[in-house]
Amino acid sequence: MEFWMKWIGWCLKQCERIMPKVQLSKILVWIPVVAFAALIAAPVNATDVIVYKSPACGCCKKWVKHLRDNGFKVKTFDVKSVVPYKIKHGVTKALASCHTALVDGYTIEGHVPAVDIKRLLEEKPNVKGLAVPGMPIGTPGMEGRRKEAYDVLTFDASGKTGVFSHH
Ligand code: CU
Ligand code: CU
Repeated sequence: MEFWMKWIGWCLKQCERIMPKVQLSKILVWIPVVAFAALIAAPVNATDVIVYKSPACGCCKKWVKHLRDNGFKVKTFDVKSVVPYKIKHGVTKALASCHTALVDGYTIEGHVPAVDIKRLLEEKPNVKGLAVPGMPIGTPGMEGRRKEAYDVLTFDASGKTGVFSHH
């Protein structure tokens, strides 16, 4: 800490030599602003998606591709068991699917379509997240010959669900 104080002091002295005092005070005002901007611009953006998945799961990979194709930045973590992540992020057994993802403070469980995640981030409802329980055929990443009808559910911390959209 002491080093940094000295360093900042040295910097300011260098600045004073090339700039009048008035301008320097203006710069001092801007330092926290720039620091804050740097914080928001930090590597993980709010809309970046973090995915916990099993390395063996092919449908998870396809779902990640679906998100990337739809403009999401995705960071994946291959984990031995996804269960602790589900428990930690409020996913009950009834809601569970293969992968568990996080975006902007929300939990995304299973093969939720990108369009629903975009709507979630726009509307920002007061829920824990979205889930497509199980792995219905026809969801993004689970494309098959037939397409099952499925609901995207909202869920809250108590496990209470609601229908967010129907596909
Ligand atoms: Cu899956
Ligand atoms: Cu998956």
